[in-house]
Amino acid sequence: MALNIVIMAAGKGTRMRSNLPKVLHKLAGRPLLRHVMDSAAQLSPDRTVVITGHGAPLVEAAVAADGASCVRQEPQLGTGHAVQQAVPALGSEPGTTLILNGDVPLIAPATARALAHACGGERLALLTVTLADATGYGRIVRDGESVQAIVEHKDATEAQRQIREVYTGMMAAPTEALKRWVAALKNENAQREYYLTDIVAMAVAEGVPVVTASAVDETEVLGVNSPVQLADLERRLQRRQADALMETGVRLADPARFDLRGTLACGADVDIDVNCVFEGTVTLGEGVRVGANCVVRNAVIGDGAQIHPFTHIDGDKEGVRVGPGSLIGPFARLRPGATLGREVHIGNFVEVKNSTLADGAKANHLAYLGDATVGERVNFGAGSITANYDGANKHRTVIEADVHVGSNCVLIAPVTIGAGGTIGGGSTVSKTTPAGALTVARAKQVSIAGWTRPAKIKK
Ligand code: UD1
Ligand code: MG
Repeated sequence: MALNIVIMAAGKGTRMRSNLPKVLHKLAGRPLLRHVMDSAAQLSPDRTVVITGHGAPLVEAAVAADGASCVRQEPQLGTGHAVQQAVPALGSEPGTTLILNGDVPLIAPATARALAHACGGERLALLTVTLADATGYGRIVRDGESVQAIVEHKDATEAQRQIREVYTGMMAAPTEALKRWVAALKNENAQREYYLTDIVAMAVAEGVPVVTASAVDETEVLGVNSPVQLADLERRLQRRQADALMETGVRLADPARFDLRGTLACGADVDIDVNCVFEGTVTLGEGVRVGANCVVRNAVIGDGAQIHPFTHIDGDKEGVRVGPGSLIGPFARLRPGATLGREVHIGNFVEVKNSTLADGAKANHLAYLGDATVGERVNFGAGSITANYDGANKHRTVIEADVHVGSNCVLIAPVTIGAGGTIGGGSTVSKTTPAGALTVARAKQVSIAGWTRPAKIKK
């Protein structure tokens, strides 16, 4: 038996008041639709069909890599009409078609799987939830235990509106029957739409069993229709992620002020202070401490390293590596390709890009190291920079082991500073320097004795 998954993503999302299609708005750094696609993929379906409409080219581009097929629904005449468009893409084998929503992102794979099993290729299975306030939802109308129909809020009688068991928008139907049912839908209702939910009464009339499954957790069935709902789901998901990390021993100063947009792997005894954001793929080694207000993206932080407050680490594609025992920040900036050895110190207002710093190297204040290879125990002084860009090309600076670069120096690349050398403060160095030497490259100091300052001219 084949499993198809249909994801409805054609709706406009008027209440988002955005030019971006609703399903592409991000939750924990990933588009809503991606969350649904990733959960769907865990069921190993034979086919996934995404129904697009509003902003179709953008939505289709976003799912192109997944091997899902897209069908367009133009214009959008209701959820039943949406599924009609998907019918030709469902194949001809008997089996189950599971219908999910692109704007209900946190559906758990286990719940989706249970719904598909409840259908089993022969029953119509509805995912329902009981709400305190069911306003706006399709109500599950039962006769005793057995489901008779779904009645949309706008079409419901006052008595039906008292029902609090509602349809979540997710169902699983026998594929062949689904095709037959959606072909027979009519739009004779309050909204002049083809309601997918009308197939319930059709199944009942044909004697096909209608069963219900319920969501384990209310969060799984919450849809996103507005920025307020998006932010609400974001906090719920962040709290879940925070709880999962704390279960493994990570200490978060405040789980309500923690954001993970990607994956975070942590060793034992990691401490994370408030307002930190982790993006992409981040690894924090054993005993790492991250101070308040840090942003860390695509980076590997070694055991015992400390990231002081307000540090921005962005590994982008190349990644950033911080060696064990290093001290970074406060107010440091590590950019793509920053690769730091053991016990490296990067202090306030220091920027490092595409550079390797060997064990024990230090740049503690107001410095820029770009396209540099820095040896062991180098001390790079306050206000010094590598001038790596000549206006057309980037060049490398090599600073060999045990060099001391004084304050306010400019090292004009390509240049090599020989091992153990010292560069006098204020030097502009454009030629390779010998090992062990003191190099001073600045105007000589002169003093003019008895010099008098100009005085104001009297008129
Ligand atoms: C639908 C259900 C309702 C249920 C509710 C749960 C129907 C008729 N009603 O109502 O019983 O309680 O969801 O949230 O199905 N879409 C399309 N094409 C369309 C219309 C909608 O792709 O022509 C997509 C939307 O993008 C959305 C989903 O279908 O992802 C649901 O559409 P929506 O308009 O939100 O349906 P509701 O009126 O909320
Ligand atoms: Mg809706």
